[in-house]
Amino acid sequence: MAAGSTLQKAIDIVTKATEEDRNKNYEEALRLYEHGVEYFLHAIKYEAQGDKAKDSIRAKCLQYLDRAEKLKAYLKKGKKKPVKDGGSSSSKDSKSGGKNNGDSSDSDSDDPEKKKLQSKLEGAIVVEKPHVKWSDVAGLEGAKEALKEAVILPIKFPHLFTGKRIPWKGILLFGPPGTGKSYLAKAVATEANNSTFFSVSSSDLVSKWLGESEKLVKNLFELARTHKPSIIFIDEVDSLCSSRSDNESESARRIKTEFLVQMQGVGSDNDGILVLGATNTPWILDSAIRRRFEKRIYIPLPEEHARLVMFKLHLGNTSHCLTEENIRTLAKKTEGYSGADISIVVRDALMQPVRKVQSSTHFKKITGQSPVDKETICDDLLVPCSPGDAGAIEMTWMEVPSDKLSVPPVTMGDMLKSLSSTKPTVNEEDMKKLDKFTEDFGQEG
Ligand SMILES: Nc1ncnc2c1ncn2[C@@H]1O[C@H](COP(=O)(O)OP(=O)(O)OP(=O)(O)O)[C@@H](O)[C@H]1O
Ligand SMILES: [Mg+2]
Repeated sequence: MAAGSTLQKAIDIVTKATEEDRNKNYEEALRLYEHGVEYFLHAIKYEAQGDKAKDSIRAKCLQYLDRAEKLKAYLKKGKKKPVKDGGSSSSKDSKSGGKNNGDSSDSDSDDPEKKKLQSKLEGAIVVEKPHVKWSDVAGLEGAKEALKEAVILPIKFPHLFTGKRIPWKGILLFGPPGTGKSYLAKAVATEANNSTFFSVSSSDLVSKWLGESEKLVKNLFELARTHKPSIIFIDEVDSLCSSRSDNESESARRIKTEFLVQMQGVGSDNDGILVLGATNTPWILDSAIRRRFEKRIYIPLPEEHARLVMFKLHLGNTSHCLTEENIRTLAKKTEGYSGADISIVVRDALMQPVRKVQSSTHFKKITGQSPVDKETICDDLLVPCSPGDAGAIEMTWMEVPSDKLSVPPVTMGDMLKSLSSTKPTVNEEDMKKLDKFTEDFGQEG
């Protein structure tokens, strides 16, 4: 998408919204306001340059939301529903209408709005297992142990955790980008059978309808309580729970407050609920939120042995002619690379045979397994070769019959070539901040 186009779209939409508003088509206006704000939020995230621009967009958003909220209340009134004046809790039924926003007593489970929110959240429950096993995650032994202790043991041996010995309620995974935090969470989801895994991204929670966000948080926890034992995984918590400050929006503050209340579990039973968070900028977390993640585990860049395992994992069963020694060399050479960087190096190297096929001007005949039927051995398979090779035939891949192409294996040369063109993504500065945070609040994983 061209830069700025989302912003333009957002502006177009809210322009239309104000028009509809003027023409008293409130329902349409409400829809457009909501829609426009969604676009604005997207623009803030991906397009807007500089804090000033972002702030001014945010201010505009608030204005539109304010208007939208009024419209919503107005429309509700039209439908003969009692509404509390100006409050954001306007949508509740009359039973709870007079109470505070933050109470937990609205147990009327047939509240249609609550149903709607919960059904929205049901989408965040990962029912299907992601098929990432502990063994697929290279290194990170400390982190794995801590997660097993918090997730697997309490479910398997509940009697281990009685009396004063209680399992962890909140675990924060932090570390440089691409080191496997989200991946590790997927492993937890796979391995923790019997427990319900809610994977919510901050964008699920900071909903299009900002006023509803804190209710989403509340509903999320309620849902987790009814499905316990459960694990709530919140990726990129930093965007949800950064330090509270004076100039942040009212709604952001409400989300955080609700979060604090729910994690604390006052008046509500948080047994059997584990909140798992991941972030790569832990220092911007609010201190109160930080405290609620009782265990904070540093997920570092992989050390040499972990990198070696990663190379093997990512190569998988693709045909290659790398020796053990070759892989060890690669592991040595990739100091400072993250897991994600390594997976990119390998993926790029895996593509090189394909490129060879595409660019080759000569092919030669070899004997080997037929690509269509592993049982038969053919003696007229074609592999790309250099023009000087014995038996080289001048031809391009277009002329090779599809069942006769033999794919050249990945070589050390391919790996080194990809390695030289892929640079590590993690920078010194972030590492320093992470080290500082680990020293102050963390635990090595
Ligand atoms: N320890 C690891 N073992 C195996 N693969 C890994 C490991 N770490 C990273 N990877 C690979 O890198 C990819 C990206 O990792 P992941 O998405 O978990 O990073 P992250 O730590 O969540 O990064 P971010 O902080 O940017 O969200 C994974 O899909 C996986 O293929
Ligand atoms: Mg991640």
